Amino acid sequence: MLTVVLKAIIFVTCGIQLVTTTESDRGLIVNIATTSMIKQATTVPIAEDGTPNLDSIRSKKPFNNVDFVSVDGDYTLQQAYAYDRYTRTIYKNSNFTIELSGPNIWTPLHKGLSKAYVKLSVDWISHNIYWTDPEYKWIMVQSLLGNDTSMYCVLIHDNLHGPQGLALDPIEALLFWSDIGTSTKIEVSSLSGRNRKSLISSNLLNPCSLAADYASRRIYFVDQGRFTLETVTYEGRDRKVVLKKPETKFLDIALFKDYLYVTDWRLRGMYFFNKTNGKELRKSWSERAVRYYGVAVFAPDEQLVPAKAHCPSLGCEHICVTEKDSASCLCKDGYTLDQDMKTCSLNNESLHRALIFSNESSVCIVDIRILTHFAFLPVCILETSGTKYMSMDTDDRQMILANDTAIYWARVDNPELQMLTEITGTISGKFSYDLFNYFHT
Ligand SMILES: *[C@@H]1O[C@H](CO)[C@@H](O)[C@H](O)[C@H]1NC(C)=O
Ligand SMILES: *[C@@H]1O[C@H](CO)[C@@H](O)[C@H](O)[C@H]1NC(C)=O
Ligand SMILES: *[C@@H]1O[C@H](CO)[C@@H](O)[C@H](O)[C@H]1NC(C)=O
Ligand SMILES: *[C@@H]1O[C@H](CO)[C@@H](O)[C@H](O)[C@H]1NC(C)=O
Ligand SMILES: *[C@@H]1O[C@H](CO)[C@@H](O)[C@H](O)[C@H]1NC(C)=O
Ligand SMILES: *[C@@H]1O[C@H](CO)[C@@H](O)[C@H](O)[C@H]1NC(C)=O
Repeated sequence: MLTVVLKAIIFVTCGIQLVTTTESDRGLIVNIATTSMIKQATTVPIAEDGTPNLDSIRSKKPFNNVDFVSVDGDYTLQQAYAYDRYTRTIYKNSNFTIELSGPNIWTPLHKGLSKAYVKLSVDWISHNIYWTDPEYKWIMVQSLLGNDTSMYCVLIHDNLHGPQGLALDPIEALLFWSDIGTSTKIEVSSLSGRNRKSLISSNLLNPCSLAADYASRRIYFVDQGRFTLETVTYEGRDRKVVLKKPETKFLDIALFKDYLYVTDWRLRGMYFFNKTNGKELRKSWSERAVRYYGVAVFAPDEQLVPAKAHCPSLGCEHICVTEKDSASCLCKDGYTLDQDMKTCSLNNESLHRALIFSNESSVCIVDIRILTHFAFLPVCILETSGTKYMSMDTDDRQMILANDTAIYWARVDNPELQMLTEITGTISGKFSYDLFNYFHT
């Protein structure tokens, strides 16, 4: 049997309009699943103060076999976005209303994510979508403007073990995420990925979901391992446990005014908590045989676009991201930002991010954009013989290979096998490797 091991080399090269609403179209977008496991895009209207109207729930089946696990929306663009674990794709609904009066068509926005609990969040000022990928261990950003679905890049990839929870504040231009792994923490950076800092790094077990409260400048998060709903300021101070419920398995959280909307996997329902004292403001919404997944708020007064938008006048060639009182340009994957800080040039030095795979006789490399919808051909960079194991050091762009004769070392960029140590017996077990160790052919 031949084992092909895939690895990734990663290197970051990231190089308005207003809608006037006559009626209030304000509500929650929720992913629920019925017993038949058909996931539905469901909406719950909410009042101006956040009170849900559970008598007016609407549901529409997007299409078969979707496993939507997280959602968000851009009110100005009248779009909703949902991540489907089944097809590993983020979909967009281009004509979304809480009434679900539109055609209910979900088209692919980004294919090729990992099959994990990806969370997504929208910057509704510059119209970009951010998402975490706990398996690929990175945070991505993609422009929501125009039709070109290649306008994305990896924003943050280093020192991430399992990025999951995600929230952002476009007004303050801050991105918050939880990284779950050996040293679980909650981190913050600008929306362009700069000024990264740790907010909390102790007493965390599984902070799987985050929400930002623009009004109080606080992050709310649920920790599935500690059975808590907690809050901390944007600066990482004044951490408080809003409530602790040992019988729960909180999944997702959204916030509007005094309300925290929290889905619970174990109790199969959604809670409506007062964000200040943790009291239930309404009896929880719980239907037998329904499972509740992602939740997001879709409301004009939640996404108040500032009068001055900086992106339209900046003229970024690829992606424009919000900065505090300004904006900056990023380039899509494979491109680097030029000196003018606006235009982008093809980065043709060497493969910046790629999958590396080996079989018995070759080590080959292919551009990582093959994971999405682009077609690239693999290039074999090294002839080997009888390779049994391979391991990557992605930071230093080098690999370790072993066959029954010896263990070898080679650089990725200028590959030449160098023997590290000869093997006297037989080798068994496996090397530890960083990424994509679940790909076997
Ligand atoms: C959006 O949906 C509304 C209501 O069905 C319809 O009138 C409108 O033409 C749709 N717009 C687009 C761009 O599909
Ligand atoms: C997007 O694609 C649609 C259909 O292909 C086309 O009608 C529209 O002009 C395109 N919009 C932009 C901004 O390219
Ligand atoms: C939530 O709790 C706070 C503090 O107890 C209180 O002032 C506020 O009115 C409550 N909100 C609602 C909607 O009841
Ligand atoms: C990339 O290739 C183009 C055309 O071959 C060349 O003009 C350009 O200088 C190259 N850029 C880099 C960064 O090597
Ligand atoms: C290994 O992969 C290369 C490139 O796809 C191919 O040419 C070669 O035949 C493969 N070797 C084996 C033993 O499968
Ligand atoms: C191991 O690889 C080296 C270098 O390619 C080769 O000379 C040797 O024959 C290989 N050993 C086996 C058992 O395939």
